[in-house]
Amino acid sequence: MLAVHLISFFFSKLQEDPTKKVDRFLHAMRLHDDQLIDISARFQAEMKKGLSAESSAAAAVKMLPTHVRSTPDGSEKGQFLALDLGGSKFKVLQVKVREGMGVRKGGVEMEEKIYPISKELLNGRAPELFDHVSESLKDFLRVKNISLEKKHPLAFTFSFPCEQTRLDKGLLLSWSKNCRARGLQGKDVVQALREAIDRTGGMDIEVLAMVNDTVATMMTCGFDDQYCDVGLIIGTGTNACYMEELRHVDLVEGDEGRMCVNTEWGGFGDNGALNDYITEFDQDVDATSINPGKQIFEKMVSGMYLGELVRLVVLKMTKLGQLFDGLVSDALMTKGKITTAHVAAMEE
Ligand code: BGC
Repeated sequence: MLAVHLISFFFSKLQEDPTKKVDRFLHAMRLHDDQLIDISARFQAEMKKGLSAESSAAAAVKMLPTHVRSTPDGSEKGQFLALDLGGSKFKVLQVKVREGMGVRKGGVEMEEKIYPISKELLNGRAPELFDHVSESLKDFLRVKNISLEKKHPLAFTFSFPCEQTRLDKGLLLSWSKNCRARGLQGKDVVQALREAIDRTGGMDIEVLAMVNDTVATMMTCGFDDQYCDVGLIIGTGTNACYMEELRHVDLVEGDEGRMCVNTEWGGFGDNGALNDYITEFDQDVDATSINPGKQIFEKMVSGMYLGELVRLVVLKMTKLGQLFDGLVSDALMTKGKITTAHVAAMEE
């Protein structure tokens, strides 16, 4: 009797719809509501550590003060240049801000040009990377017929964690994503840019501010919606900023008003806070990355890593015979062969 049961059990397994096998395999990795609530409580605890003077130095979620004290109110106007370095593309922009907001027909107009950056530059020496940035800026001025004689204000969106003591001063804490140019860690990024602009010569540029991409996003959206108090990026990397009451930001003096805090939430989990949620695939992605042990949350969700995560899951399922009749191709064995763009195309 038992044997019959066993045989019919195995037979039913053989007949099983293959998508069910896939579902069963993936089920273990699905997060349920109570787990999401637990993760969000852990995240909030890490945010508190980052904000408090006693624990901030060692905090995984750094909660960096940005020295941005307000969001746009519609009174802003003018024209300036901007650089955007740190996502998948490096861009130079000309930005025009008209007075007024939303229905009052104010707003932001941008013209941009993308300048490719080679892997060699991203992995080489920082001064050479910044020379490329500054030469691209000069090219942009020429292409757009912007006077080289006049002085131009410039804002720098630099999408890596920086400890800012002023709006125009920020020490690079560490590189992330696909960049690791040597010689900038611990140094002032604005100063490095100014020096490169001097080396290039022939331009009159005043670097007024450096902001993280989350902050730039929040400020830009602020022109359409005055109540926009959060900036969030899920791109090559991931991060968020928000307007915090100054009295909660221990590292900045004063209690009145608000300041934008760059959470650097990509580092959530760097102290082990997510260890029981990390899968063997996350571990693999981390171990083979350029910064093992760092940006653990970022590696679990962001564009630079999602394709590789999918490849590792598909590879495991194939090895277990659950996909492609168990036949593992060379491509499937190759790191980086599936990109997030592929995954997005499949989803569509
Ligand atoms: C960086 C953040 C940035 C985010 C999104 C992360 O790797 O550390 O500063 O905001 O990527 O670009």
